Amino acid sequence: MEAVHEHDHSHDHPSGIMRWVKTTNHKDIGTMYLWFSFAMFMVGGVMALILRAELFQPGLQVVEPEFFNQMTTLHGLIMVFGAIMPAFVGFANWQIPMMIGAPDMAFPRLNNWSFWLLPPAATLLVLSMFVPGGAAGVGWTMYAPLTVQQGMGMDLLIFAVHILGMSSILGSINIITTILNMRAPGMTMMKMPLFVWTWLITAYLLVAAMPVLAGAVTMTLTDRHFGTNFFNAAGGGDPVLFQHIFWFFGHPEVYIIAIPAFGVVSQVIPAFSRKPLFGYASMVYATASIAILSFLVWAHHMYTVGMPVEAQLYYMFATMLIAVPTGVKVFNWVATMWRGSLTFETPMLFALGFLFLFTIGGFTGLVLSLTPVDVQLHDTYYVVAHFHYVMVAGALFSAFAGVYFWLPKWIGKMYDETLGKWHFWLSIIFFNVTFFVQHFLGLAGMPRRIPDYSLQFTDFNMISSIGAFGFGLSQLLFLYILIKAIRSGEKAPEKPWEGADTLEWTHLPTPAPYHSFETPPTVK
Ligand code: CU
Repeated sequence: MEAVHEHDHSHDHPSGIMRWVKTTNHKDIGTMYLWFSFAMFMVGGVMALILRAELFQPGLQVVEPEFFNQMTTLHGLIMVFGAIMPAFVGFANWQIPMMIGAPDMAFPRLNNWSFWLLPPAATLLVLSMFVPGGAAGVGWTMYAPLTVQQGMGMDLLIFAVHILGMSSILGSINIITTILNMRAPGMTMMKMPLFVWTWLITAYLLVAAMPVLAGAVTMTLTDRHFGTNFFNAAGGGDPVLFQHIFWFFGHPEVYIIAIPAFGVVSQVIPAFSRKPLFGYASMVYATASIAILSFLVWAHHMYTVGMPVEAQLYYMFATMLIAVPTGVKVFNWVATMWRGSLTFETPMLFALGFLFLFTIGGFTGLVLSLTPVDVQLHDTYYVVAHFHYVMVAGALFSAFAGVYFWLPKWIGKMYDETLGKWHFWLSIIFFNVTFFVQHFLGLAGMPRRIPDYSLQFTDFNMISSIGAFGFGLSQLLFLYILIKAIRSGEKAPEKPWEGADTLEWTHLPTPAPYHSFETPPTVK
């Protein structure tokens, strides 16, 4: 069938924009995921700064309440589905084939489609601000029954969630198939680099959780337009049903974000400790237990809906159980560093920032798992502070660690180490200025998702807003560091980290020569 084209290779090597549109190369696709993620990080970040500008002082000054609600919704959805998840899929695309010795992903053309589903979905989310009625102001959790009363923006949002979910599911099928079928001879499961293990487990979580979210928004859609009453009490439905379905997806989603972050950190810490990862097998089992437990604790987000005390107790103890495997992981990371030859280049700094601050986020999570405490803190800024320690200091810092760690291998050039360290210190200081004080606001009773507040909350809100703008500006430095490295970085040595990146310690092989348009591999 292809014989006709035997001497015409022009369609194999498109140039310009078509090179990126048509690419099936896992490195190209990984690069596109990472840049897309960074762009979304900027868009979601600007939305966060709009929120923090309004919250700088009491009263309404910058935006209308409706627009404030739209910003909380889009900030959450864009950061979760547009920024953090695609960043780690980008790492997966770059690293998994190289780490297991595969020529590419199992389904290269599907890989291309998984990525190119994202820009239309992001466009729908942003466009929803400009339709009659504006974007949905329902929060990223999209709780019924408010979703039924929203305008057309809600429909665009539902469509966007469907497309984002489809992209994740297809990407996960690709990752699972690649890892299970395309490992080089001798690369047994228990020899795989931990980053590969974490992505295998994450991909299963995605395949199990994303269709549940798709179901929740589909039921919302039919309630809105086709006369069903899934979530409408007047028609015999139950709005709390939405919360159950949403959080059956939503809690595993937290680990869909956190587990690949654990994987990156599990590569970086051994490299800069010049030691193998401590407790490899226990890391694998701890990650798998976290994944299984993540499906059994969803109603800890719903202690205030009026569930029986027995159910509250079950969800409390089940949630607290997750602290055990998480503790195993933190212990292993610390034990890896114990008596290692530590150095503190930028990737290691971000990994340590992750370790320190994610542990704080974990502990506040444990606080919130306690039903009597959560009943007091539900929907306050304590919750906002908690999950930003997990999402920003956890997932985002880990992503920064991964970019700085692997960038020399990806582009063959070094980034500016001094500027990298500046990026780390500015980020970690402004992050804590922004979010640490939000614990106090929550404990004092300030509700979340509110554009205005009582006078006694002013001081901490001002500090938080100043921190947020500092954090946002610091990320422009990250962009500058990337552009500088790509344009004029020094040639990266074979081993950028002083002997720290040997196969033995990090399982990272020297990348194959960069060929953008290798023929997609065929799987036999
Ligand atoms: Cu949860």
